[in-house]
Amino acid sequence: MTSRFLLVGLLLATCSLVALASDLSPLQDFCVADLKNNVPVNGFVCKDPKMVKAEDFLFRGLDKMGNTTNAVGSNVTTVNVNQLPGLNTFGISMVCIDYAPWGQNAPHTHPRATQILVVIEGSLLALQQSLFSLANICAFP
Ligand SMILES: *[C@@H]1O[C@H](CO)[C@@H](O)[C@H](O)[C@H]1NC(C)=O
Ligand SMILES: *[C@@H]1O[C@H](CO)[C@@H](O)[C@H](O)[C@H]1NC(C)=O
Repeated sequence: MTSRFLLVGLLLATCSLVALASDLSPLQDFCVADLKNNVPVNGFVCKDPKMVKAEDFLFRGLDKMGNTTNAVGSNVTTVNVNQLPGLNTFGISMVCIDYAPWGQNAPHTHPRATQILVVIEGSLLALQQSLFSLANICAFP
């Protein structure tokens, strides 16, 4: 009898296991990257919070068009932790891609990330020849 209860209990325990997995929540509200610190961590060491300035959370320059006179006819302006230290540990970054007519962006992947693309001027062929134009948004895995 005891072994039957043990077996039923074991079966219930086995069947009720739920897999939960996610990245851990950050330990702090912000961790402005100390880009000059070369301590090898996965990401950047936090700057001393007393030294954090508003400019650490500010990027200016997406209004300037990139030079698209190159082999692919496009130019990617990146806004990640290197340009905007306040993004450190937030898990988000941004790029602005300028295209010359018929310019291209080489095929690539986004491991562990999703890309949201917004067309703000002109039109763009993407996702198996779909045409996107002003204010259209598409998500790329
Ligand atoms: C992108 O544009 C910037 C600003 O004009 C320029 O400095 C850079 O060399 C360009 N990059 C490429 C790959 O053409
Ligand atoms: C854009 O890049 C090309 C090729 O490097 C260069 O010849 C041209 O002067 C650049 N244009 C500007 C506005 O910087």
